[in-house]
Amino acid sequence: MQTPLSIYFFSGTGNARNVAHWFSVVALGRGIETTVTDISRTSRKDIPLPAPGSLVGFISPTHGFNYPPAMMYFIFRFPRSKGNRAFLMNTRAGLKLSKWFVPGLSGIALWLSALVLLFKGYRIVGLRSVDLPSNWISFHPGVKEKVVASIYGHCKNITVRFAGKILSGEKVYTAFRDIIQDLLVAPVSIGYYFAGRFILAKTFYATDACDKCNLCISNCPVKAILTVDNRPFWSFRCESCMRCMNDCPKRAIETSHGYLVLSMCLLNIWIMSWFWQAVARFLVIPAGNGWVSLAVTFTRWAVTFAVVVLFYRLYHYLLRVPFFRQLFYYSSLTRYKFWRRYKPSRNMISHLP
Ligand SMILES: Cc1cc2nc3c(=O)[nH]c(=O)nc-3n(C[C@H](O)[C@H](O)[C@H](O)COP(=O)(O)O)c2cc1C
Ligand code: SF4
Ligand code: SF4
Repeated sequence: MQTPLSIYFFSGTGNARNVAHWFSVVALGRGIETTVTDISRTSRKDIPLPAPGSLVGFISPTHGFNYPPAMMYFIFRFPRSKGNRAFLMNTRAGLKLSKWFVPGLSGIALWLSALVLLFKGYRIVGLRSVDLPSNWISFHPGVKEKVVASIYGHCKNITVRFAGKILSGEKVYTAFRDIIQDLLVAPVSIGYYFAGRFILAKTFYATDACDKCNLCISNCPVKAILTVDNRPFWSFRCESCMRCMNDCPKRAIETSHGYLVLSMCLLNIWIMSWFWQAVARFLVIPAGNGWVSLAVTFTRWAVTFAVVVLFYRLYHYLLRVPFFRQLFYYSSLTRYKFWRRYKPSRNMISHLP
């Protein structure tokens, strides 16, 4: 009799969800008692806890060279080990160039979470990235269906092989192959966590094509979309998982590249130079004092963050004015036909519940 398996996953557009299911199918095929939990759809108190001595798996996409906060916080709060073994997987932005499968980059995604689990007493038995198609359609058009199907076939085999080994009691640390590049991009993951996700991720808006069906609101895994003025409004909770933009039946959700460029330029020009030069004229900051320069740096970041919030409010206010609305609309690359939405391969998920 093999020990039970508990898989916990978070997924924006379905890649990590599919990996969780492929793994579970291998386990069920071996007669292993298996539970698969979507952490975004289950309330904290209802999350099934792993049995003592059982195998636990965590599967999530990579966001900004790390696990998204939803999965990170889940792992931080996960109970201590009772003789449990654990494996971690992350889905990344895979591409296919000609015949070659090109991998994404994990950064600290697996390493930070593995460290937390080690401190909690888990024995880490597997670390594996799976390079499913990139879903970051704010930045590039969705991958073509044929390419998606090909990458999916490749990744399903990888997951099935990995599952077979882990369930046979082997240890598999494929992620160690990438450790040098992961460490090199680690500082970016910190920048993304504190700044990137707030600035870059908050550019969504609903166009006039929106029929207020509320699907995006009810399907958001972190409940980040509110209704303001009878329209969807993206709050700062958004993790940029891309689910809403991909799934909107009216294709009414766009990323405003015009706003992104404008706000970044204004932020750089005004805040970083003009504003701080003006401040320096009134305030003489003593040089060489570590605490003072730390306080100045902290204040700069706090003010910059406040301005980002202000810009975001202003942007949504301007969206109500027809002239600006059109301006933002025409400068949203996502509105053009060639900018496909991302759909995980239908053939590969047809067997899923
Ligand atoms: C906001 C955002 C950030 C991302 N950052 C990374 C990254 O740092 N490295 C990477 O390889 N892929 C990155 N990706 C790609 C996704 O991790 C990848 O497509 C993943 O398979 C999506 O899984 P899901 O469908 O379960 O959400 C990012 C995607 C988004 C939307
Ligand atoms: S899913 Fe699309 S159409 Fe429905 S409320 Fe959201 S933006 Fe509007
Ligand atoms: S608002 Fe959209 S992109 Fe943001 S977390 Fe929710 S579903 Fe994902």
